[in-house]
Amino acid sequence: MKKIMVSFLTISSLAVSLHAYDQADRIQDMQTMEASMAQIQRGILYNNKKMVLQGVANLKQASSNVEVPQKTEMDYSSTFARKQAAHIMKFADKIKKNIEDGHKHGAAMNYTKVLDQCISCHNKIRKWNQ
Ligand code: HEC
Repeated sequence: MKKIMVSFLTISSLAVSLHAYDQADRIQDMQTMEASMAQIQRGILYNNKKMVLQGVANLKQASSNVEVPQKTEMDYSSTFARKQAAHIMKFADKIKKNIEDGHKHGAAMNYTKVLDQCISCHNKIRKWNQ
């Protein structure tokens, strides 16, 4: 009986840790990234450095979570998705540096570069291109 209990516990904890990243998780992370982008823009416009830095941190956090959807949903490879995520991280860091140096134009330029990464991937979503 004890043995059964132990294996039951092992299986259930495994099930929790193996929770697959699904569509709901992805939508949640996408919405967080959208809110982070809005936060960055607002911070630039309100001259609020802290708001920009918080937006950058939130963007990076959500972007690092995103996993690749099924191939049937999209027209891209996991290599492409990883590359996009790496670009988002790189440009987010640049926004951070720009705003720390007080360069709002630079921050705005790198903000657009992040947005371009979002759009490149979204252009590959099959159901969005019908
Ligand atoms: C690697 C691909 C990829 C990248 C990069 C990406 N997205 Fe997405 N995005 C998706 C996919 C796939 C969906 C569709 C989600 C679904 O319905 O499963 C989506 C959907 C969304 C949605 C709609 C969510 C909803 O409620 O339906 C928003 C908003 C969004 N993305 C924001 C962003 C922002 C902001 C960025 C850039 C910072 C970004 N995405 C970058 C793949 C990507």
